[in-house]
Amino acid sequence: MSATARPAAWSRLNVFLHWTIVVLIVCQWIQGEFMADFWDATLEGEAPGRLATLLGYSHIVIGTLVLIAAAIRLADRFTHGRPPLDADEPQWAAMLARVTHVLLYALLFAMPILGLTAWFTGNDAIAGYHAFLWNPLLAVIALHVLGALTQHFWFRSPALKRMIPGIRHSA
Ligand code: HEM
Ligand code: HEM
Repeated sequence: MSATARPAAWSRLNVFLHWTIVVLIVCQWIQGEFMADFWDATLEGEAPGRLATLLGYSHIVIGTLVLIAAAIRLADRFTHGRPPLDADEPQWAAMLARVTHVLLYALLFAMPILGLTAWFTGNDAIAGYHAFLWNPLLAVIALHVLGALTQHFWFRSPALKRMIPGIRHSA
């Protein structure tokens, strides 16, 4: 899509899915340890506790929802385009934002795909790669949040406002 054809705001679906993914990632954070216990018990042929079983299965369902939501969001972004980056922002900041977004999408796809592959093949090494990606994901999310706040408070760009549900910002 050319720069002139860019929409002034994110689509409602895109904003909704952004915050849905945030909530789902927080759930995965809370359940991660239980999933690790559930996984170990499953591999060793032991009966996992009730809580580990419940949270283990919900980890799988929620993680799969993250994958679906990220895929829909990316499709929506390519179909409707994304609002332009703030022209007043320095180039390095715009570049850093782009790199961060690419890394976020890569990790939002890689984590559930590795998790599902480990689950359906029973491969503990793949599960290890899945668990290993968690800290990089947290680090990139921290950078992303810091960037969003810097854009808002330092560069005074409209980026954060247009990601807030209900605010229809015209660029
Ligand atoms: C974006 C989605 C997901 C996130 C953020 C996520 C996050 C996590 C976290 C934080 C842990 C605990 C790591 C640890 O304490 O060592 C974990 C473990 C695990 N997750 Fe996920 N997960 C996601 C999706 C999935 C999906 C869809 C599956 C499919 C079955 C899955 C399977 C597993 C398995 C098997 C483990 C145990 C790994 C191990 O102990 O080696 N995850 N996940
Ligand atoms: C789990 C946590 C989060 C994830 C995985 C995440 C993911 C993403 C991704 C992938 C994009 C890029 C959209 C695109 O270019 O298609 C994005 C955009 C954005 N996110 Fe997040 N995000 C998270 C948390 C947050 C939080 C807490 C804030 C607010 C402080 C925030 C503010 C924004 C803003 C303002 C944009 C739009 C940037 C722009 O218009 O250039 N995000 N987010």
